Amino acid sequence: MKILVTGGTGYIGSHTCVELLESGYEVVIVDNLCNSKREVVDFIKEITHKEVIFYEGDVCDKELMRKIFKEHKIDAVIHFAGLKAVGESVKVPLNYYRNNIGSTITLCEVMNEFNCKKIVFSSSATVYGSPKELPIKEGFPLSATNPYGRTKLYNEGILTDLYVSDNNWSVALLRYFNPIGAHPSGLIGENPNDIPNNLMPYIVKVATKELKILSIFGNDYQTKDGTGVRDYIHVVDLAKAHVKAIEEVLNNTGVDAYNLGTGQGYSVLELVETFQKVNKVEVPYQIVERRPGDIDACYADPTYAKEKLNWEATKGIEEMCRDSYNFAINYNSKHQN
Ligand code: NAD
Ligand code: UD1
Repeated sequence: MKILVTGGTGYIGSHTCVELLESGYEVVIVDNLCNSKREVVDFIKEITHKEVIFYEGDVCDKELMRKIFKEHKIDAVIHFAGLKAVGESVKVPLNYYRNNIGSTITLCEVMNEFNCKKIVFSSSATVYGSPKELPIKEGFPLSATNPYGRTKLYNEGILTDLYVSDNNWSVALLRYFNPIGAHPSGLIGENPNDIPNNLMPYIVKVATKELKILSIFGNDYQTKDGTGVRDYIHVVDLAKAHVKAIEEVLNNTGVDAYNLGTGQGYSVLELVETFQKVNKVEVPYQIVERRPGDIDACYADPTYAKEKLNWEATKGIEEMCRDSYNFAINYNSKHQN
């Protein structure tokens, strides 16, 4: 079976390619490298000792997408390609709508032409807005508070409409909670070029002394220690869920949404303390103002993914902290000279 992975050299995509290859799937990647590097293709091969086909290009480029489908008999697609910085999406919303929604439309049009109607889509827990209750279940009301979140919500709607129009489609909407960690080889992981927006990449850059101090955004939330609580999930666990979702879309039709989290919430302080302990490294921090738009707490009820996909997260917070740091140390040592 051959799977097309859009955004396959990115953070979650690269880990998913590894799991797909290790489960016996053939993998074709298309990525325009706007937020990743070509070397990732070699790292995927090095980890798996398998071949990967790579196309550098944009999913919005219809002719390129047709060429890929002509050259390969694609059985299903995992659509990771997209822009993901919430703050940036507020500043340049049209870029987000064109890229994140345009890519989905072009991709699905070409899939239709080639009669490939099986797709796994990268959605986000952000589609739950500010949940009234915890843990979050898939049936909770959906809303968005920024353009990035709206692209996820609209894409979910577009893919659902597509299924309603043609019941031969098979769609899995995967709502990720907070992916962190890296492949234990230390070869692939998350490595933002700019100053990171998200917590774990920031912690890592403070630990490696690339940044001075972590700012913790608020300690007066309604949580165990006042800092924000999130459902952090190891990226390798997340990647394995995609293999299960691919099996599901290959074998069935329909549209379904799944929460991908551990079900366990950790505060910012708990994450920082665990990181310092397992890696034996200092992470200096200061408490600053809340970040606008942040919510107190967010964690999944992952029961449905367990029941329907036979998937659950197995890696704990210590492993997540260790693997994130291990990747950074390995990456920095390779790119120093
Ligand atoms: P990433 O930026 O590391 O990966 C996305 C990849 O897509 C990059 O390699 C980028 O170069 C590529 N890309 C972007 N637009 C493209 C286009 N038009 N054509 C071809 N390639 C394109 O991000 P990630 O963390 O791996 O996220 C993958 C997906 O999961 C995204 O859709 C993101 O919104 C979603 N998601 C991520 C998180 C998270 O915390 N990382 C949480 C929820 C949802
Ligand atoms: C953010 C996005 C969300 C996106 C997700 C994954 C916002 C408002 N939300 O979620 O839409 O799906 O990333 O990409 O941007 N924190 C600090 N200091 C920091 C960074 C973060 O204290 O320097 C805190 C935050 O206040 C939060 C927690 O750490 O309580 C996690 O933050 P982050 O990693 O940015 O993820 P989310 O805000 O959950």
